[in-house]
Amino acid sequence: MLNTLLQLGYLLAACMFILGIRKLSKVRSARQGNQFAAAAMLLAVVITLVDLGNIDYRWILGGLAVGTAVGVFAAVRVQMTGMPELVAMFNGFGGAASALVALSIFFRTMGTQTGATVDVAAAMGGSHIAVAGVLSLVVGSITFTGSLIAFLKLNGSVRGNHFVFAGRNAVNGLLLLGTLAAGAAVVFVPLAPDVTIMVFSAALVVALIVGITGTSPIGGADMPVVISLLNSLSGVAASMAGFAVDNHLLIIAGSLVGASGLILTQIMCKAMNRTLGAVLFKSFGGSADSGRDGYENVKEASAEEVAMMMDDISTLVVVPGYGLAVAQAQHTTRELANLLEAKGISVRYAIHPVAGRMPGHMNVLLAEADVPYEQLVEMDNINGDFKTTDMVMVLGANDVVNPAALDEPDSPIYGMPILNVHEARQVVVVKRSLSPGFAGIANRLFDNDNTIMVFGDAKKVLQDLVSEVKNA
Ligand code: TAP
Repeated sequence: MLNTLLQLGYLLAACMFILGIRKLSKVRSARQGNQFAAAAMLLAVVITLVDLGNIDYRWILGGLAVGTAVGVFAAVRVQMTGMPELVAMFNGFGGAASALVALSIFFRTMGTQTGATVDVAAAMGGSHIAVAGVLSLVVGSITFTGSLIAFLKLNGSVRGNHFVFAGRNAVNGLLLLGTLAAGAAVVFVPLAPDVTIMVFSAALVVALIVGITGTSPIGGADMPVVISLLNSLSGVAASMAGFAVDNHLLIIAGSLVGASGLILTQIMCKAMNRTLGAVLFKSFGGSADSGRDGYENVKEASAEEVAMMMDDISTLVVVPGYGLAVAQAQHTTRELANLLEAKGISVRYAIHPVAGRMPGHMNVLLAEADVPYEQLVEMDNINGDFKTTDMVMVLGANDVVNPAALDEPDSPIYGMPILNVHEARQVVVVKRSLSPGFAGIANRLFDNDNTIMVFGDAKKVLQDLVSEVKNA
């Protein structure tokens, strides 16, 4: 009877995970989706503890207290702009957890061995369990150190691309083969106990190194793809751990994370026009050619002048970018939009899939300011409309409106789909300087005849615009 109830509980939690992910696909229901998934996780933990029966709750409660404290502290303290780092860190913790599960099973098994040699596969209850354990260790460890590097790169502690040299892919390939070979030896070759432990430890250390050397050369605009891939890997590691400890729910939850992370990776690769192979094996990122160097036709205007231009427009498209999030100017943007709408101007927002620093960044940012969902238009749906748009206001965006992606084959972003704002009648770019965006490359849009620049912090410029429009 108890067993049936437990199985039903597992099934319910699995359904709630799937429903949660489904709800996450729409901004309107995303919050509820998150709550669903969190409740499913709580249910899963409780059922697993009951299922295990005879356990020492002191360790469980200790772990729960530490984990909750770290999670709550990180989530409450994190700024919107720091969210990608937090996600990277969570992926890393997921990978570490799976690797720790593998470590604990391995050492528990080794503790029961008394012979001259150890048959790990037999001792663990079958080679499939041992293989799953080793994969959980290897994939989890790679995810852990890879995510750590992604975290440090995103928060600026590690700058630039490292471990970049001609043969690095071959070296990484060999290291990966090495860790897998060591793992296979542990499972399939009966060795003396101390040798088994040494080979297992070597697999662990090399996997940790692969995470570092594999992620370090990747930089620039490719980091979001890497984070999404690491997210997928953390799911794969978790489902392997599920096989190793024979927990169906862990297998399901891990597979969901693995599959959804892979789909997101694919979507982002497409949005940046990069293949996954190019992201992982080719270092990317322009030389930071910042400052006014190279620009010849930059025209500057004040908020007052832009407000005057707004007297003559009937359509405005706002393009939000990373700078808008930095300036926390979403509420002021909405305030300006309200004023313009009251004057009969149609205001819409063009959303590029990789604007900002994480998937959905701009949607979340604008939702915070209660911008109506129907005014947010995806890139593919709005690109045809720029030709007939009176004014585009680019707020702290740069790479996602850079025409080099269309007409400069040598540019690192060549081929990446962009918002074709240069086709509009008038383009107003609001940013603090002519500094490049994430990809580190110049933007010829700033030189176009129909572009004017308003230099300043986005919030300050928008506040000035609001008062100019009010006083007009
Ligand atoms: P970016 O190209 O990074 O440009 C942002 C611009 O905002 C900068 O040029 C900066 O110029 C300006 N800015 C910064 N603070 C500002 C402030 N307080 N007020 C006004 N402007 C400010 O941004 P984007 O167009 O959103 O493109 C996103 C880039 O990040 C892409 O290359 C994308 O591939 C990459 N990326 C995306 C993601 C995801 S998944 N969304 C994750 C990581 C990386 P100033 O310094 O001159 O002000």
